[in-house]
Amino acid sequence: MTRVQLRPVLAEAIEILDTAGVPSPRADAEHLAAHVLGVERSRLLLSPLIGPDQLDEYRALVARRARRIPLQHLTGRSFMGEIDLVVGPGVFVPRPETELLFAWALARLEAVRHDHTPVVVDLCTGSGALALALAHARPDADVHAVELDSDALSWARRNADQRAADGDTPITLHHDDVTDPYLLTELDGYADLVVANPPYIPDGAELSPEVVDHDPHRALFGGPDGLDVIRPLVPLIGRLLRPGGGAAIEHDDSNGGGVAALLAADGRFTEIVEHPDLAGKPRFVAAIRIS
Ligand SMILES: C[S@@+](CC[C@H](N)C(=O)[O-])C[C@H]1O[C@@H](n2cnc3c(N)ncnc32)[C@H](O)[C@@H]1O
Repeated sequence: MTRVQLRPVLAEAIEILDTAGVPSPRADAEHLAAHVLGVERSRLLLSPLIGPDQLDEYRALVARRARRIPLQHLTGRSFMGEIDLVVGPGVFVPRPETELLFAWALARLEAVRHDHTPVVVDLCTGSGALALALAHARPDADVHAVELDSDALSWARRNADQRAADGDTPITLHHDDVTDPYLLTELDGYADLVVANPPYIPDGAELSPEVVDHDPHRALFGGPDGLDVIRPLVPLIGRLLRPGGGAAIEHDDSNGGGVAALLAADGRFTEIVEHPDLAGKPRFVAAIRIS
């Protein structure tokens, strides 16, 4: 069998994914084709033909995506900032909306005085996305990342090893519980930046099959109001940050006010600001440790 035109193959895939209720059928069909052909999505049209083996592989991937297996589990890749991450079953797939928190964190690090090594802590690191993207952007930083789940931690370790092999400053991974009141006491008062994308979805929320059937539930659900992990995070962040240090906590769009209120009630934070995502929904709260 000879190579065939890619365009009708893509059109067929888009229709299959659309019928299956996949939210972005064209984008996903193109991402999968780019994955199979080994090119960037933006260069797909420069590869207008697809060979027989690649076609079989592509159709099998499209069929799995139509069964609502996450795109990133099929390609094995996700992204944060300027880095690639490997992801798969057992770890939360980093989301584009977290890029906004990442951008805030990076800007905040710019404000760190140049008389010391910036200390960064990523609480609930999952694949290591935020910690490793920050370490890549700021090779001068001493980055710590905390994760409770062993499966997630092994993905973080793979990503951390790869980034270090590619020349980034190694980060320190801690297999630990962010609700432990004695966590990282050796860093008390030393952190310039704390970021957290914890489990925050209220129990019982309705979720797409990609999320509820494939993201680990420990990564998703944060109790009846979504704040079970965030509540103990607030005193921990107050303890870790040095005066003038900044923190950002991602949260469910239903409880931005709740997270801001927890930070205000703690009494150690100022400049508590709610930040929306690109859809205009409240997505993370940032705050500065009082001097
Ligand atoms: C929403 S995911 C975020 C992962 C990553 N920060 C990101 O943005 O892609 C939350 C992560 O927190 C971890 N986690 C849940 N409870 C935890 C706890 N008590 N201590 C440490 N990590 C926890 C989960 O296993 C999961 O990997």
